[in-house]
Amino acid sequence: MDSAIKNDSPAVLARGLCKSFQHPTLGTTLAVDHIDLCVPRGICFGLLGSNGAGKTTTLRMLLGLMPPTSGTLELLGLPMPAAECQVRAKLGIVPQADNLDPDLSVEQNLRVYASFFGVARHGLDTRIDQLLRFAHLTDRRAHRVESLSGGMKRRLTLARALINAPELLVLDEPTTGLDPQARHILWSRLEELKAQGTTLLLTTHYMDEAERLCDELVVMDHGRVLDQGSPQALIARHVEPWVIEIRFAAHLETHFAPLSALGKLERHGSSLFLYTHERKLALPQIERLAAVQPTPPVLLQRPAGLEDVFLRLTGRDLREDA
Ligand SMILES: Nc1ncnc2c1ncn2[C@@H]1O[C@H](COP(=O)(O)OP(=O)(O)OP(=O)(O)O)[C@@H](O)[C@H]1O
Ligand SMILES: [Mg+2]
Repeated sequence: MDSAIKNDSPAVLARGLCKSFQHPTLGTTLAVDHIDLCVPRGICFGLLGSNGAGKTTTLRMLLGLMPPTSGTLELLGLPMPAAECQVRAKLGIVPQADNLDPDLSVEQNLRVYASFFGVARHGLDTRIDQLLRFAHLTDRRAHRVESLSGGMKRRLTLARALINAPELLVLDEPTTGLDPQARHILWSRLEELKAQGTTLLLTTHYMDEAERLCDELVVMDHGRVLDQGSPQALIARHVEPWVIEIRFAAHLETHFAPLSALGKLERHGSSLFLYTHERKLALPQIERLAAVQPTPPVLLQRPAGLEDVFLRLTGRDLREDA
């Protein structure tokens, strides 16, 4: 059957994917609402969205962990759920919540998982040594999982997901709760995997992470895809290239109102933000307006990024359904 699989087929192809949940008091929730996804092989593809946007539900359907309410799905050129067993052998999963066995050692966790996948015993010791080195956990191999830090557990979950050398690695918030060093280690591991040809599909709430790792991404909200593109394309499409923050100046909105001629002036929290193409014209004007204030506000300028796109597309209000 493998010979029938087209290697140029996308890693993920979803059409009209939907998932609704029945809730005893809230009624029906349409968690995923007619999503189309096409993830080419060998890239890192990101799903971004606020809490409750439908990211985990989408991944769970892709992974065959939850049946779609409607829609069609192909993974690695094979129809799901019909070819689930065949596909599962080629998948690696890093779930949102760690599900390691806390009573087993680091090495035992890898061995048990290998046996679930039917990984051949021949070469398994070498594979485990490699994965422990890859995850910087060699000196912890005999330690019980419950004694590991959060970052070590995350790295072990990644190592475990790689036991079957997957073609497609799916990671649900792989770096949430990690310190900057641990995030950087994980990023470099993911970059190595991509360089080796593994397709990565991940969700994250960290826009710097998405900007750094993802070749292509979708922004989701309320179960729908709002837009798709590379980080650079989305930034160019949705926001002006420069952001100037006039910090602690929200109460001076009318004073700074003339800046609206140079871009989009928005008030968020205690600051005003000018999104503009005209940074060189705007800065002296802002400085003149600021100088006449008894306490001139602090000015910060930076290139626009994915976070600005995300907030522009999904709004700044906290999600009630989160
Ligand atoms: N098993 C379930 N039963 C009922 N409702 C569910 C279930 N799983 C998810 N939902 C609902 O589906 C919606 C999407 O949830 P989901 O976990 O996919 O969001 P998410 O984008 O992963 O959010 P987060 O960023 O917080 O992880 C939410 O409204 C959630 O309450
Ligand atoms: Mg989630």
